[in-house]
Amino acid sequence: MTDRLILRRLGPADLDDLAELHGDPAVMRFVDDGEPVPREVVAARTLPEILAEYDRLPEGLGRFALAERETGAFVGWVSLRPADSVGLEEFPGLELGYRLRPTVWGRGYAAEGARALIRRAFEDFNGSGYGHGYDRVAATTMAVNTASRRVMEKAGLRYVRTFFADWPGYIEGAEHGDVVYARSLDELRTA
Ligand SMILES: CC(C)(COP(=O)(O)OP(=O)(O)OC[C@H]1O[C@@H](n2cnc3c(N)ncnc32)[C@H](O)[C@@H]1OP(=O)(O)O)[C@@H](O)C(=O)NCCC(=O)NCCS
Repeated sequence: MTDRLILRRLGPADLDDLAELHGDPAVMRFVDDGEPVPREVVAARTLPEILAEYDRLPEGLGRFALAERETGAFVGWVSLRPADSVGLEEFPGLELGYRLRPTVWGRGYAAEGARALIRRAFEDFNGSGYGHGYDRVAATTMAVNTASRRVMEKAGLRYVRTFFADWPGYIEGAEHGDVVYARSLDELRTA
């Protein structure tokens, strides 16, 4: 819970909202292959994967819905998961991610949700210790995804490097490469 947002697990009832989000070309412009994801794929693959992660990962990790406190409306998701993206191989830590509805962009929701998720991880690391072994948070995005880079900074991460991967297919701006942002938990705690 933040000033304006509730973070909660996604469930089967979120299929319509999730399909709309992942089916939006503006949302997918700099994500994966840059193409909107068909509803059938969200239903058969994306949502089941998200739900299965809750069983597999320690509590507090995974992809979580962001809902507006005021309206209860689903506005997107933020995630904190063991890093497995291309470019993060040398970061045996947690990876931050987010996808929000264009209608709410620019309100600071992504950064607010990301900070809350990271803070919750700290508290739980300190308490039950279930996250033992993760010592940093990292994120990666296309270099041209300015909004996403700004969210990383506002979440406390710092630019590490630019890299060039051999992606299948071309997304506009790919020639500028991808960027890695990261910060150790110690640095984030004292930032
Ligand atoms: C990236 C995304 C999550 C940002 O969500 P958001 O709630 O609008 O983010 P915030 O409001 O917390 O912060 C966005 C910041 O980027 C800035 N920004 C947005 N678009 C920008 C642009 N084109 N150029 C420069 N800055 C930009 C905003 O001004 C804001 O910074 P500020 O608070 O210093 O003014 C959202 O745009 C999104 O879902 N995009 C599609 C999915 C995606 O690309 N996810 C990331 C994949 S790695």
